[in-house]
Amino acid sequence: MGIPDVSGRSLSDLYSLRGRSAVVTGAAWGLGKATARRLAEAGASVLIADIDGEAATACAQELDAQFESRIIAVQMDAGDPSAIKATVDLAVREFGQIDIWVNNAGIPSFVPLLDLEDADFDQVIAINLKGAFIGAREAARSMIGAERPGVIVNVASLAGVMGISAGQAAYCASKHGVVGLTRQMSIELAPHAIRVLGVAPGFSVTEKTMFLAELDEDALSQIPIPGIGGSRLGRVGVADDIARAILFCASDMALFMTGSTLLLDGGIAA
Ligand SMILES: NC(=O)c1ccc[n+]([C@@H]2O[C@H](COP(=O)([O-])OP(=O)(O)OC[C@H]3O[C@@H](n4cnc5c(N)ncnc54)[C@H](O)[C@@H]3O)[C@@H](O)[C@H]2O)c1
Repeated sequence: MGIPDVSGRSLSDLYSLRGRSAVVTGAAWGLGKATARRLAEAGASVLIADIDGEAATACAQELDAQFESRIIAVQMDAGDPSAIKATVDLAVREFGQIDIWVNNAGIPSFVPLLDLEDADFDQVIAINLKGAFIGAREAARSMIGAERPGVIVNVASLAGVMGISAGQAAYCASKHGVVGLTRQMSIELAPHAIRVLGVAPGFSVTEKTMFLAELDEDALSQIPIPGIGGSRLGRVGVADDIARAILFCASDMALFMTGSTLLLDGGIAA
C-alpha cells in the first residue's frame, strides 16, 4: 500500500478530516484538548481518552455540541496497556476504524537527578514512553487489520531533543525515547502506508499553567524552563500553536512526511 499523489486536490480538501476518526490521549485538558478541537473542526470524529474520566466526558460534550462530527470520551490510563487496548477496541466499535492516533498523554517530573527514585523514573517512562509505544502499536495493528492507511502523531517535547533543566531527567529521557520511537516506527510502518510523526513543543500555556501569566518577569526568570517567559517570536506558546501543527501532521497536507519530529518552540532551540 503506497501513498497517493495529491497534487490535484484543493487545500481545503487536503486539510479536511471528514469521514476520518481519531483518538487523542490525555485530551481532557491542555494540548490534547486543543488538538481534539482542531481535529473535530476539520471534520474528524474524536475519542477523547484521559485518566480524568469526568473531565474527558465534559470535554467531549463541549466539543460535540460545537462541531458536526461525533466526539466521545473514555477513561483511560496511558500507563495501563490493557486500558489502551480497550480504548482501541472502543474506537473501532464506535467509529468503525481508527485513522489517526495522537499519543499526547504525558506527565512531567521535577525531581533532581540525585533524589530521583527508581519508581518515579519508571512511572514517567511507563506513561510517557511505554504508553506511547503501546498506543501506537495497537493503533497500527488495527489500521493494518482494516487494510487502511493511517497516521500516528507522538507528542514529544523540546526536552526530547535537548537537555532542559534540573529535575527533568526522567521526563527528558522519556521524550528522547518518543522521538526515537517516532523515527523507528515510521520505518516499520511505512510499508503499510501508516505515517508516524512527532511534535516537540516548547513551553506552551494550558489551563493548568495560565497562572504563570500573573507572574512578573523576575519571578518567571526564576523558573528554569526555556520559553516560559516568551519565545524568539515575541510571545509564549499556547496550546493551539501545537494543535494546529498536529492537525497538519494528521491531514493529507503532510502526506509525504514520516519519521520526523517538528520543533514547535517559537525558535527557542534555534
Ligand atoms: N504544555 C507544555 O508546555 C508542553 C511542552 C512540551 C511537551 N508537552 C507535552 O504535551 C503533552 C500534553 O501536555 P499538557 O501541557 O497539555 O499537560 P496537561 O497536564 O495540561 O494535560 C495532560 C492531560 O493528560 C491527562 N493525563 C495525565 N496522565 C495521564 C495518564 N496516565 N493517562 C491518560 N491521560 C493522562 C491529564 O488528565 C490531562 O488531561 C504531554 O505529553 C507533555 O509532556 C507539553
